[in-house]
Amino acid sequence: MNVYDSTRMEDVMKQDGYVSTSNISDADLVVLNPCHIREKAAEKLYSELGRLQRDKTPKPMIAVAGCVAQAEQEEIARRAPYVDIIVGPQSYHRLPKLVADIEASKVKGDRKRSIDIDFPLESKFDLLPPVQARSVSAFLTIQEGCDKFCSFCVVPYTRGAEFSRPVDSVLQEAKKLMGDGASEVTLLGQNVNAYSGDTKGLAGLIRKLSQIRGLERIRYTTSHPRDMDKELIAAHGEITQLMPYLHLPIQSGSDDLLKKMNRQHTAEDYLKVIEAVRDVRPDIALSSDFIIGHPGESERDFEQTLQLIETVGFAQAYSFKYSPRPGTPASTISEQVPEDIKSVRLEILQNLLNKQQREFNTRFLGQSVPVLFDRKGKLPGQIAGRSPHMQAVHVNCKESEEVDKYFGRTVNVRITGAFRKSLTGTIEHTAL
Ligand code: 5AD
Ligand code: SF4
Repeated sequence: MNVYDSTRMEDVMKQDGYVSTSNISDADLVVLNPCHIREKAAEKLYSELGRLQRDKTPKPMIAVAGCVAQAEQEEIARRAPYVDIIVGPQSYHRLPKLVADIEASKVKGDRKRSIDIDFPLESKFDLLPPVQARSVSAFLTIQEGCDKFCSFCVVPYTRGAEFSRPVDSVLQEAKKLMGDGASEVTLLGQNVNAYSGDTKGLAGLIRKLSQIRGLERIRYTTSHPRDMDKELIAAHGEITQLMPYLHLPIQSGSDDLLKKMNRQHTAEDYLKVIEAVRDVRPDIALSSDFIIGHPGESERDFEQTLQLIETVGFAQAYSFKYSPRPGTPASTISEQVPEDIKSVRLEILQNLLNKQQREFNTRFLGQSVPVLFDRKGKLPGQIAGRSPHMQAVHVNCKESEEVDKYFGRTVNVRITGAFRKSLTGTIEHTAL
């Protein structure tokens, strides 16, 4: 979602005559928009700010955006007093005004900081300029915020309460993206399957999106197990544009720990959802998030997580050491798990997940897979894209001109190599 928000900030600044640059030394304005969900991501902000302050003359205007700005306004002012603008995730449509305020204060000779971390009544989506597709594969935020309050998570505090964009606004944005040449859309939300902008929920929205001409592939992320309703599960078996990939975080396989995490579901509930999705879409690629070392995690809890992974068989997954986040209930629990135990457990868990990922990819050897090519490689002739199951697929074309021919299109690839994080293959036939 930060990537999506960054592109929208770019859109809004373009209206004021700004253009984006890939060379930071050309920039008059630098916007840093990092994630706040784990400590590591937030810490990166301060090292990046330090580097900017050290290396760049003349000094650009610096804005810090997103959840970090929302949560750490005072910390930013203390650790990086030269930051000009602090703007939260729900008010970045006002960025041009904040920039103008700084310009005005500079003219007056008293450069001040502009801060806007409101949760305004108006929706930024109604005020932002029309979106512009940057790639054949586009992100589209349909929902934001969270009402679930998992013990470890900052999202309900930084992104605010659950909010869904109205269905018409989403359809309009999707049509614009397809008109710009995109053919895949990934619907975004912290609780995307709690989408309530359509009377029939996320499934209703996906059905409407599937009617849009040129929209070949639909994905959504991130879902909560409790919101995987019957309609959404059925959609996986019925809507051909809905890709066979589901990212469904569980965090832990232990009911005791799920309770401590306030996840509002059991391991059994999760397995039932997986079974129902597999009933309608047996080949679905499953992905998840795991937190290792949440306060109170015992050896037995951890074993149960491993057991759940064995039972499900994941195509890929993300796993993190628990990191205490300010203001969350888990950060105040006394039974914190020692760092060395977290490290050992994480390694065991990741070895198992990596093995499953390799096994999943190996199944595709020899198969023909439709790949949507959205990236060119560094060397001539190299092109890459995604399979329906979300695997990265790399191809070395025989001639470098072929790259331009296939770029932005879906082309069948015969898989000849399977690795943990990617597949390789040769172009089979072109349906151009
Ligand atoms: N520590 C570690 N991982 C976390 N996540 C969220 N909060 C924390 C935390 N405090 C992980 C969860 C979530 C993913 C986006 O980030 O697994 O699903
Ligand atoms: Fe955070 Fe997701 Fe839990 Fe909401 S459901 S509190 S976003 S982990």
